[in-house]
Amino acid sequence: MKILVTGCNGQVGWELEATLQALGDVVAVSRQQCDLTDADSIRHCIERHAPDVLVNAAAYTAVDKAESEQALAFAINAEASLIMAEAMKKRAGLLLHYSTDYVFDGSKQGKYELSDPVSPVNLYGESKLAGENYLREIDGDYLIFRTSWVYASRAHNFMKTILRLASEREELNIVADQYGAPTWARLIAQTTAHALWQSWQEKMAGQFTSGTYHLTSSGRTSWHGFAEAIVEIARELEIEKLKVQQIHGIPTSEYPTPAARPVNSSLDLSALEQKFNVQMPDWKESLKLCMRELV
Ligand SMILES: NC(=O)c1ccc[n+]([C@@H]2O[C@H](COP(=O)([O-])OP(=O)(O)OC[C@H]3O[C@@H](n4cnc5c(N)ncnc54)[C@H](OP(=O)(O)O)[C@@H]3O)[C@@H](O)[C@H]2O)c1
Repeated sequence: MKILVTGCNGQVGWELEATLQALGDVVAVSRQQCDLTDADSIRHCIERHAPDVLVNAAAYTAVDKAESEQALAFAINAEASLIMAEAMKKRAGLLLHYSTDYVFDGSKQGKYELSDPVSPVNLYGESKLAGENYLREIDGDYLIFRTSWVYASRAHNFMKTILRLASEREELNIVADQYGAPTWARLIAQTTAHALWQSWQEKMAGQFTSGTYHLTSSGRTSWHGFAEAIVEIARELEIEKLKVQQIHGIPTSEYPTPAARPVNSSLDLSALEQKFNVQMPDWKESLKLCMRELV
């Protein structure tokens, strides 16, 4: 199996390049090698590498900036997906694409199921939803994995920011009324590898069906709960000299951002767990494993 991965320097792309190695020949490309704002660059990259499977881990992920860079966010998150979907359909290949919990508006009390209506509250969510819809419209072979609150031991993310702030300040104020599932980029890559292998076998046997799945850790917390866990584990592992004494939970209204966020973005994982026979670990267990890499 020949696998092309985009966004190789991103959190998920980086983990994918290493994790997919056992499945076949993996080529992972950066923005310089495959620019998602440039249709020709995408088409040439796919033609050049001739993949059986394209895993699109590149995305415009700056949620707040997307409010003022709508055209760029849509070019990368939506129009690029259309070009990839067309090119992979032409090759009779498989396109694996990531989307987000932010396709939902967050007003539901329980976990979001795949059948729940989508209604993004920000432009990033709208651009990702448009990307999903292009894959469905083109109707080649595809898998869409919606994930949430991604972190990794490298690159910029909430975990790294909290560790930095906790080493600089005695008190932190963190939003306590938005809920979701922090998800380690490696867990996404490992689950992707597993799902990809099964899907490829199905495709070879003419039994593959395209679909959308929720792929996150299990359990849920708030950003405040996430920050408390990061500091607790950092202290246990003696990762950094931490100054922080108190982490206050604050309402979203006290931390205004350009982009609105869904209050609840917990995703129901049962379709993924049943289809691919996996059991997604609790978010805190993955966080501990990830943070061990920082020691
Ligand atoms: N991060 C989250 O919390 C989160 C939550 C839900 C869903 N997701 C989804 O999960 C997937 C993976 O996200 P991630 O956290 O790994 O994102 P990430 O760390 O922000 O990485 C995104 C990658 O996309 C690349 N990229 C940006 N613009 C590009 C362009 N014009 N052409 C080519 N590459 C470009 C970036 O390149 P550079 O390295 O050159 O900047 C970066 O390597 C995405 O589909 C994202 O929407 C993420």
